[in-house]
Amino acid sequence: MTEHTATSWFFNERPKDLISETTLTLREHTLPDLLEGEFRVKTHYLSLDATNRVWLSDWDIYMDPVRLGDPMRGFVVGEVTESRNADFPVGSFASGMASWADYVIGDAERFTPFPIDKDLGHAFAVMSIAGPTAHVGLHHVGELQDNETVVVSGAAGAVGLMVCQMAKRRGCRVVGIAGSAEKCQMLTEEFGIDAAINYKTEDVRDALGSACPDGIDLCFENVGGDILDASLVHMRDYGRVVICGLISTYNTKSPTPGPYMFRNIIMRRLTMRGFVILDYMDLMPQVVADLGAWMQAGELRLPLHVVDGLENAVDAVNLLYTGGNTGKVLVRMH
Ligand SMILES: NC(=O)c1ccc[n+]([C@@H]2O[C@H](COP(=O)([O-])OP(=O)(O)OC[C@H]3O[C@@H](n4cnc5c(N)ncnc54)[C@H](OP(=O)(O)O)[C@@H]3O)[C@@H](O)[C@H]2O)c1
Repeated sequence: MTEHTATSWFFNERPKDLISETTLTLREHTLPDLLEGEFRVKTHYLSLDATNRVWLSDWDIYMDPVRLGDPMRGFVVGEVTESRNADFPVGSFASGMASWADYVIGDAERFTPFPIDKDLGHAFAVMSIAGPTAHVGLHHVGELQDNETVVVSGAAGAVGLMVCQMAKRRGCRVVGIAGSAEKCQMLTEEFGIDAAINYKTEDVRDALGSACPDGIDLCFENVGGDILDASLVHMRDYGRVVICGLISTYNTKSPTPGPYMFRNIIMRRLTMRGFVILDYMDLMPQVVADLGAWMQAGELRLPLHVVDGLENAVDAVNLLYTGGNTGKVLVRMH
């Protein structure tokens, strides 16, 4: 019998702020033999997602947190190298929720077949989390209508860029909020959004007033804190606020104050709704078909921020919390 080994990141110590190499430690270990229905996947790409930090917290969250001592959880795509499942034959590709590792064991509950694509990283980045989150959040949760005014925070990140482009293809006026002049320039010049606000150098509340003179119909919130507050000031009557993420609060232990402008929920008769993409798996066939069609039509693309080597995964994930990334952060395996 062949002994199979994998190299994985393990959860070692709960972080106080950013994830570090004492939070997670990398080590080689033995993988068990496959059970009926399982298959072994050689990881090609690991997706790093803002929620990774939330999974390491001691908060009461939307799913089981990662337990101390366990491998760090993550979405991967890769090639099946050994299989006891006819739906995942050797040589095919599969993606799913597994761990930060070079080899993982999959099953049909956590994995789906992934079409072999000449640009595997891009296809994975769009189809795995960012694209579905943006699509479901904007259309299903946010009930986007043509030609509305949409504000997107975290606009130059993976989910944000997807949301901006999806709202543009519906004729909306799209205003993005991001953390550098380069990101703002990319949003307006390369992605054709109507206005971009640099929250590090501008007064977001004033800038939103100028960029959305008739108010905001839909706020797609990825950040929270003062940025959400600034949007609440400018919401139109019956506007919708989609709470996709609150990344500005993920690295702090101290309680985050609620929005100062919370009263506008009633003054402007707003609907504020949070969602978690994992609850919408029944919509995936249509979502994946739409994403494919929009990419084909040239209406949707996602810049990749690729970091090479599993050993660099900790530095890579922290790009998300420091704004070091533009677009989707992926780790490419050696
Ligand atoms: N609800 C769901 O099911 C779901 C699924 C996936 C993702 N999400 C959420 O979507 C959001 C984006 O996630 P992602 O994985 O696509 O990451 P991302 O947007 O690619 O990267 C995160 C970005 O957030 C910005 N940011 C970080 N800390 C900030 C702070 N304190 N204030 C303002 N901006 C800050 C940074 O950009 P700047 O340079 O602009 O600061 C950074 O590039 C996150 O909130 C995440 O939790 C939700």
